Parts: sequence; structure tokens; C-alpha cells
Amino acid sequence: MATNTPHPLRVRKRPDFEQGGGRLRVVDLFAGCGGLTLGAAQAAHERGVALDVPLAVDFEQAPIDVFSANFPKAHAQRAAVETFFDGDVGAPLTVVETQTAETVGELDLLIGGPPCQGHSNLNNHTRRDDPKNRLYLRMARAAEVLRPRVLVVENVPAVVHDRQQVVEVAREHLTSIGYTVATAVVELVRLGIPQTRRRHIMLAVRADALPQGESVDTILQLGEGAVHDLRWAIQDLENVPPEHWFDKPSRANSENQARIDWLHDNGQFNLPNARRPVCHQGKHSYVSMYGRLSWDQPAQTMTSGFGSMGQGRYVHPSQRRTLTPHEAARIQGFPDYFRFDSTVTRTQLSVIIGNAVPPALSRVLASRLFDAGVLDEGARVTERQVAV
Ligand SMILES: C[S@@+](CC[C@H](N)C(=O)[O-])C[C@H]1O[C@@H](n2cnc3c(N)ncnc32)[C@H](O)[C@@H]1O
Repeated sequence: MATNTPHPLRVRKRPDFEQGGGRLRVVDLFAGCGGLTLGAAQAAHERGVALDVPLAVDFEQAPIDVFSANFPKAHAQRAAVETFFDGDVGAPLTVVETQTAETVGELDLLIGGPPCQGHSNLNNHTRRDDPKNRLYLRMARAAEVLRPRVLVVENVPAVVHDRQQVVEVAREHLTSIGYTVATAVVELVRLGIPQTRRRHIMLAVRADALPQGESVDTILQLGEGAVHDLRWAIQDLENVPPEHWFDKPSRANSENQARIDWLHDNGQFNLPNARRPVCHQGKHSYVSMYGRLSWDQPAQTMTSGFGSMGQGRYVHPSQRRTLTPHEAARIQGFPDYFRFDSTVTRTQLSVIIGNAVPPALSRVLASRLFDAGVLDEGARVTERQVAV
């Protein structure tokens, strides 16, 4: 039966996230282009609650430009997170932190996806000692400084193997300062994302914000939604002319173009070893690399390599090319109203899209927090105090 509900990824008009009765105040650290903020904004908007972002921080200009273009009223700052939160976990607040807390004011939701290369299974195991992993603890410190109702930290599932045990250290610290903490690995495909991506989530709720009878573990049980395949996400873009850079695929070199042609000519989805570069011709576990996507299944994890067949299963199901930035953004769950135009180079664009957290994650989680009464739909209208 035909339905009038617009396809959520094809919506071109940005909702007026800043309008609403109540106000959801969100701080986003390691904010990237704002995938997590977008999901929180969507959940708030569905309830008539306005978004207010007193602080979003990323130390790269390109993602901050995209963030600002999409959330023009947010105080998005290009800076290292450590410049706002420079004290040790458990130590008295520093002068800078006291100032940060004053300027941010009362806070509902602190969200962040610290860089995760050091934890990723795709990386050498020695990288589990990567100093970047310590950035995870900046989230716990930021919660200590800002005292939000809710903290959400997103990361790769392998974060639990970190040698410094950042997850356990953060959990213990947050518990000691009055938060109830739960962790879970979430299958994003169960949240309607057409992608087999798994993420580790830490959810911490301030004791006084958790209504009696509600459980943080139960709130974090996400994912009973419909599973979407690739067709659902990108079929309408199949023949979009590559006039705009967002719809232009990367140009494959002649060897890779021949491989793409072979997959299509032979109706195959995996490239045999004999057609791969020499380094892939022996025994290897990279079956999906050089592979072609299937319309009827979710995609594999999007990374910044979506334009290169040598970096994953990124050949289009029906077209003799890899995915365009537009298709990759859709597979990450970004609706068409989300603008990436401010990005200057193609590499920056690929990194921004590949690094992004699918907004569905924070949308579903924030919705559950609203439903549980942890986040308040009411008319708590607080004007931003002092601009950061
Ligand atoms: C995984 S991405 C975050 C994606 C983002 N949460 C989203 O929802 O789209 C991590 C981001 O952290 C930024 N970053 C890494 N180290 C940082 C630091 N010390 N201070 C600020 N930003 C940092 C990177 O530039 C990158 O954009």
C-alpha cells in the first residue's frame, strides 16, 4: 500500500531543530561533522523540543565547518578537547574547567566519540597502547566538570581491550561521582542503518535524573527496529548524473576498473585471488576487499576508503564504479538535508563521512531517554548563559 511518509534519507528540507517548547542542551566533544548531534536533534524535534548546543569541539577545521553549516546556532569550536578539560580525572577543577562549566551552564546531554584508531581491530594490536585511547577518559572528566544529566560515549567494540582499561576506569570514576553506568555493543543495522557496523556505547545517567523504576541497562537495550538493505538507502541515486561533486565517484585506475568490470561481467561479488594484487593472492582474510555490494543486504562498515575498491566492499551493486560521497553519506544515515558543501577537498570529505557516527544511534538512544523521563520534554526553557 502506498504511504505518504517521506523516505527519511531523501528529505531535503532541514527541520527547524532550534524551534520548540522545551530545550535540549547538548555538548558534543570530538564532534566531527555532528552525526551524534544530528541524532539528538532529530529525537528532540520529534517531541517538539528545541536543540541548543552551547559547545561542540573538534580540532580539525573541515569537520567543524560542516558542523557549523548544519547547526549554525551551535557554538562549534575548532580546538583540542583538552583545552577545555585540562584537569586529571578526580582532581579539583582547573581554572579553565571552571570557566568551561560556567559558560556551558546547565546541561542535559554530553556526547562524544573520541578517536578510536588505537582500539580498532583493523589496526595492529600494539596500538591498543595508543595514547589516543586516553582521550576516552576526557569524556569522563568532561562529565565531572559539566555534570550533565546524561553522558554517552561512543567507540569501537575493541575499546574494551585497551591496555589502560579506559572503559573500566571511566566507569569506576563516573560511579564514584554519582552516575549509574551501563555499557553495550550495539548493532547499528538493528537501528535502521543499512550497514553492519557495531559500536561500543557507554551510557551514564546522573542519579537524580534517573526516575524511580528506570534502569540504565534497560534503556541501553537498543535495536529492535527493521533491518534495511542497500536498495532502501541508495537505489534512487543509481543513475544520478555525476554533475555535482557529491555525486561523483572516484576514478578507478585501469587495473581496478578492469576488476570492477570483471565483477559485473561475471555476476560476481567477490574478486578471486588471481585477479587481486599479488599481496592478496596467497591466503588472506580480506574477502570483502575488492568486492561488490549487494542490493539486498546492508553494506559493510563505511570508512573513509569508500571510494576505493582496495579498501573494502565498495563497488556499486549495479554501476561500474565505487560508491559516491552522497551514497556513503546515505549509508551512514545522513538525510539529504545535511550539507557537506563546505568541505574543500575530496579526501576531507571522505574522512568526514567515514569518521561520522550514524545519527540513528543518538536518535534512538535519546528517544529512549525521553521515553524513560531521563531527558525532559517539558518546558525547561533555559537561555544560553554566556557564549563560549
Ligand atoms: C570518530 S570522529 C567523531 C565523529 C562524530 N562524533 C560524529 O558523530 O560524526 C573523531 C573526531 O575527533 C577529532 N579529534 C581527535 N582528537 C581530538 C582532540 N584531541 N580534540 C578535539 N578533536 C579531536 C577528529 O578530528 C575527528 O573528527
